[in-house]
Amino acid sequence: MEKLVISGPTSLKGEVEISGAKNAAVAILPAALLIDGVCTISNLPNISDVKLSCEILEALGAKIKWIDANTIEVDSRNITTTQAPLNLTSQFRASYYIIGAMLSRMGAVQVAMPGGCQLGARPIDQHIKGFEALGAEVVVEKGLINAKADKLIGGSVYMDIVSVGATINVMLSAVLAEGTTIIENAAKEPHIVDVANFLNTMGADIRGAGTDIIKINGVEKLTGDATYSVVPDQIEAGTFMLAAIASKGDVLIKNCITKHLESITRKIIEVGGQIEDFGDSLRVWCDERPKHATIKTLPYPGFPTDLQPQMGVVLSLADGTSIINESIWDSRFQYTDELNKMGAKINAQGTRAFFEGVDHLEGAPVYSTDLRAGAALIIAGLVAEGETEIYNLEHIDRGYENIEEKFRNLGAKIKRVEE
Ligand code: EPU
Repeated sequence: MEKLVISGPTSLKGEVEISGAKNAAVAILPAALLIDGVCTISNLPNISDVKLSCEILEALGAKIKWIDANTIEVDSRNITTTQAPLNLTSQFRASYYIIGAMLSRMGAVQVAMPGGCQLGARPIDQHIKGFEALGAEVVVEKGLINAKADKLIGGSVYMDIVSVGATINVMLSAVLAEGTTIIENAAKEPHIVDVANFLNTMGADIRGAGTDIIKINGVEKLTGDATYSVVPDQIEAGTFMLAAIASKGDVLIKNCITKHLESITRKIIEVGGQIEDFGDSLRVWCDERPKHATIKTLPYPGFPTDLQPQMGVVLSLADGTSIINESIWDSRFQYTDELNKMGAKINAQGTRAFFEGVDHLEGAPVYSTDLRAGAALIIAGLVAEGETEIYNLEHIDRGYENIEEKFRNLGAKIKRVEE
């Protein structure tokens, strides 16, 4: 078993280069199954969720060639089966994108119910509602999802809930359908725009991604023969921004789209941090103890749930009492028990948590309960006095590329050791 050992406290200083977005990459890879041709995808984060996605594509018949650590060529001309390997699809959440992509390309698919971080109930009813509106038949039984359609025909889908996954999945299923599909109350996250841009580069006709109404005019075929670079990861950028604030550091975050980070930028300024915006990079620094704040997580462009635990570390060190209301996931405060082991004073009740700011944290053995909880514990370890050991690294490795190396370059004393 591996663990991270961090000796703190450290004030982070220097520059960090942001990788491609995990949540865009894990949708773009299945989207490549729609192409009756070859495409090249660059700026892919080298993380375990991307490797799993590639394995699933290969099991379905696609050929993948790694050009370098962050670039692959996908040849989807010959899809050989509609049965996705159950042991792989059950391992992570984004495997649900195989359903939309394979329905569109092959008219049938079988996958396992998706796994992924335990953040509370994670239904897929909105995905299914969308597929059915296009004429598919979907049966969920004994942990398996079977979907088929003789022919998909464009339809109108009103999402009852703003869902990133359902918006992308219905978009995937509509690309090769006959006629026009309209998705209303669509999610607007940057990775939705990125998947639409990828598909349009390959020959699709998708309009309005990034707004709450997306219109997809079905096309006969996607031919590929193009290269696409994945958008920078706004959650990774936000993680380093919040690490800079928590550690009273001074960090230049390079290769990010600062427009995607506005909700975080505003909160950082509210808690006393400082920001210089260069458009594709941000300097973030903080000289004083953060001030308390109230935060509610919301779909984009609101404050992202995927930065809530990292912000929780900042607020556990703030001057005064802060409140976080989590409105996306039922169980996203599991990390607060771990922070309390380090001396934080957090009282989490359901989807709300109260943070009574303390003046320092102390190193302790802690367990990462999910991906972003793991990132928060790393930040806590950097600012805590003494040694912090973090276990369950598989969660962190799912979504952050070279995380120790990136923090080490900023002065952190962090190492991965085998127990
Ligand atoms: N929901 C439904 N029915 C559905 C779909 C969603 O009720 O059919 C509910 C969910 O239970 C949740 C809300 O709608 O309460 C939003 O869920 P959404 O579908 O937007 O989440 P997701 O697509 O499963 C993605 C990210 C998550 C991120 C959320 C919210 C991927 C692979 N995952 O999940 O990322 O938290 O959007 O922004 O894109 C992470 O990266 O750490 C992570 C968990």
